[in-house]
Amino acid sequence: MLEVTDLKKSFVSPEGGRVEVVSVAAFALAVGEQRALRGESGSGKTTFLHLIAGILAADSGGVRIDGVEMTALGESQRDRLRADKLGYIFQTFNLLQGHTVLENVLLGMGFGPRGADAAHAREILARVGLGHRLQHFPRQLSTGQQQRVAVARALANRPRLVLADEPTGNLDPRHGHESLMLIREVCREHRAALLLVSHDERALQHFDQVQDFAVLNRPAAEVRS
Ligand SMILES: Nc1ncnc2c1ncn2[C@@H]1O[C@H](COP(=O)(O)OP(=O)(O)O)[C@@H](O)[C@H]1O
Ligand SMILES: [Mg+2]
Repeated sequence: MLEVTDLKKSFVSPEGGRVEVVSVAAFALAVGEQRALRGESGSGKTTFLHLIAGILAADSGGVRIDGVEMTALGESQRDRLRADKLGYIFQTFNLLQGHTVLENVLLGMGFGPRGADAAHAREILARVGLGHRLQHFPRQLSTGQQQRVAVARALANRPRLVLADEPTGNLDPRHGHESLMLIREVCREHRAALLLVSHDERALQHFDQVQDFAVLNRPAAEVRS
């Protein structure tokens, strides 16, 4: 359901040269597959997920989701496809601080195929243990609770593909464990594919399939100017 081919991305370095950060020849996920990528900080994991989600434009290469070539789409079509098919759990949550817990999930759903379905938003928030915090604002929640809002928002549209960027990075071990169990369980229920990137061995232990990102991602070593 996800196929990545010859995907490349470089950034302009502070010295003015270009540094290649992502160069992935081939990567694929099947429907419902759950896979983790292990990679140290700065190895390009977040950039890779941003490229898959179309948050960042690749320099070259392809990203196919459910048979649709994302890189060939215009911006608005890509936004719609992302809302339809993708759930993204950001490392830093990216919650809207001026909106309540319920609104954060509803606003995320509003762009998706089912629209803002309040009953379903409440249900998924209850599922992540926040049924009693619907009217709270993000700043009134603990870090673990904020992360659960981010999880609920990412899963509310029953996405086909869930991308999770170090989802345990800001959590203590117990909450990290609970959060991962929940993400994996909801993905299994909907047969959503899950791609998680992390350097946290405790998180990686949850997965049968762990791939070293440094083996997959082979950016050119030299700085080109
Ligand atoms: N917008 C950007 N401009 C320049 N360099 C960037 C940008 N985004 C990321 N980088 C660089 O790309 C490398 C990989 O970053 P990132 O994908 O965030 O790694 P990871 O998520 O594995 O920690 C880092 O060296 C980072 O400094
Ligand atoms: Mg990162």
